[in-house]
Amino acid sequence: MKRVEINAYGAPEEVAACVEAPDVGAPGPGEIVFDVLAFPINPADLSMCRGSYRLAPSLPATPGAECIGRITAVGAGVGDLKPGDLVINLQRENWAQRRRIKAADAVPVPGGVDLAQAAMLRINPPTAQLLIEDHVALKSGDWLIQNVANSAVGRHIIVLAHSRGIRTVNVVRRSDVDDTLKGLGADIVIADGADLAIRAREAVGGAPIRLGIDAVAGDATKRIAECVADDGVVVSYGSMSGEDCVMSRAAMGMRGVGLVGFMLGHGLAKRSPEAVRALYAELAGKLRDGALRAPVDSTYPIDDIKAAITQAQRGGRNGKVLVLPNGPLA
Ligand SMILES: NC(=O)c1ccc[n+]([C@@H]2O[C@H](COP(=O)([O-])OP(=O)(O)OC[C@H]3O[C@@H](n4cnc5c(N)ncnc54)[C@H](OP(=O)(O)O)[C@@H]3O)[C@@H](O)[C@H]2O)c1
Repeated sequence: MKRVEINAYGAPEEVAACVEAPDVGAPGPGEIVFDVLAFPINPADLSMCRGSYRLAPSLPATPGAECIGRITAVGAGVGDLKPGDLVINLQRENWAQRRRIKAADAVPVPGGVDLAQAAMLRINPPTAQLLIEDHVALKSGDWLIQNVANSAVGRHIIVLAHSRGIRTVNVVRRSDVDDTLKGLGADIVIADGADLAIRAREAVGGAPIRLGIDAVAGDATKRIAECVADDGVVVSYGSMSGEDCVMSRAAMGMRGVGLVGFMLGHGLAKRSPEAVRALYAELAGKLRDGALRAPVDSTYPIDDIKAAITQAQRGGRNGKVLVLPNGPLA
């Protein structure tokens, strides 16, 4: 069996390699075994390879926060899953051809969902939904502003907000995505820059923007905070700049703008296991209906993990890089 391992923390394309590993074996009681059909390369996976992620497991380690798999065997006592079922895995280490996990960590994916989209179900769709739901009680007609709007999370935020009547100001770093994001339901698409707050205020006609969503960090957090109305909230959920968030005293101290962090795991932990499964079922339905969709830039076999990682770090991509460890998707 093949899997990806890192033997040191460093440049992801250098430290990650596809290696031969012992098979996972037969499932024990309460376990399942599945073939990994596809996994995406996410910013957090790259950050884990670099050693800059919040989790730094002992080495060698296998990255991979999410995947879509097809069950090949179930152990004793597993009643609700059977061979052939599609599942996502709520645990990590998914950059491999096969996984053996606790059945309790598997969430079934209904038939009819595009497999590439299902491979990207575990993290970004619920992140988008919880970012919209958990920090400010927005109602139809309200505004939010987000940067990294062309990312998978950013696109899901546009679609999910639009479906609730919430209006979005979408901050991007390139102009060739304006029409695409507007096609998803974006109300305003605007380039980042020093005068962002002036342009954003003008674009919304002076209406209060009560929620700011930031995944760039550094001075970009400050710029988003300048766009947010008095007593509004900025939620930081990523750092594409690799920097820590910067906030001005003017925004925090004088206008009461709050800065909070978001981590999907914490957001899900506030919900019951039943609510988490219901959330995934709802989001899987949206993927199946085509309402939610993350574009795919390219696909690679697992042997070409270094090339896949290199492509995933290239700017100007048109979507996610996916790896297909067991061959082309049916
Ligand atoms: N906290 C959580 O639980 C959680 C969960 C999921 C994701 N995240 C975070 O959410 C962010 C987006 O993830 P994703 O999977 O949706 O990303 P993605 O689809 O891989 O897209 C990455 C985006 O980042 C933009 N970007 C890259 N470097 C940048 C920079 N220096 N300044 C501004 N923008 C930059 C890219 O812009 P272009 O389109 O112009 O290339 C692209 O839109 C990441 O930071 C990720 O770690 C956090």
